[in-house]
Amino acid sequence: MLAWKPEFEFGIPEIDRQHKQLVEIGGALSEMITDQTQTDYYDEIMAMLKQLENYTVTHFAYEEAAFDAKGFIGSSAHKFEHKLFVKKLEKYFSNLEKIDSDQKGVLVELLTFVSDWLVMHIIKTDREYVELLKA
Ligand SMILES: [Fe+2]
Repeated sequence: MLAWKPEFEFGIPEIDRQHKQLVEIGGALSEMITDQTQTDYYDEIMAMLKQLENYTVTHFAYEEAAFDAKGFIGSSAHKFEHKLFVKKLEKYFSNLEKIDSDQKGVLVELLTFVSDWLVMHIIKTDREYVELLKA
C-alpha cells in the first residue's frame, strides 16, 4: 500500500500538497488492483491515466516555474526527467487495446511507475531544489 512518508515532505506547502496528490493516485491504483467487485476496469484505468496526465501538466509546470524563478542550476536535467515521465505516460494512451486486454497487468505496471517515481524522482531529484526554494 502506497502511503505518504516523512521523507516525501519538503516543508514547501504547495509542493507537498501536489506530491500528496500523486501518493493518492498511487493509493487508488493499489486499491483497484485488489478490488474484486468488477470484471471490467477499463473506464477506471482511463480515468486514472487522465488524472496522471493532468497531474503532470499542472505539477511539473508549477515546479519548473518555481525553480526557474530562483535560477536553479539543475533546471534542464530536472526538466528532462519530467519529460521522460510524460513520454512514458503518453505510451499508455497510444495502446488502449493493451489496457483493455490486460487490465490488472496495466494497473500493476502503473503502480510500479508511480512508486518508482516517488522514490527515484521525489526523494532524490526534487530534493535538490528544496534548499534553494526555501531560501
Ligand atoms: Fe520534479
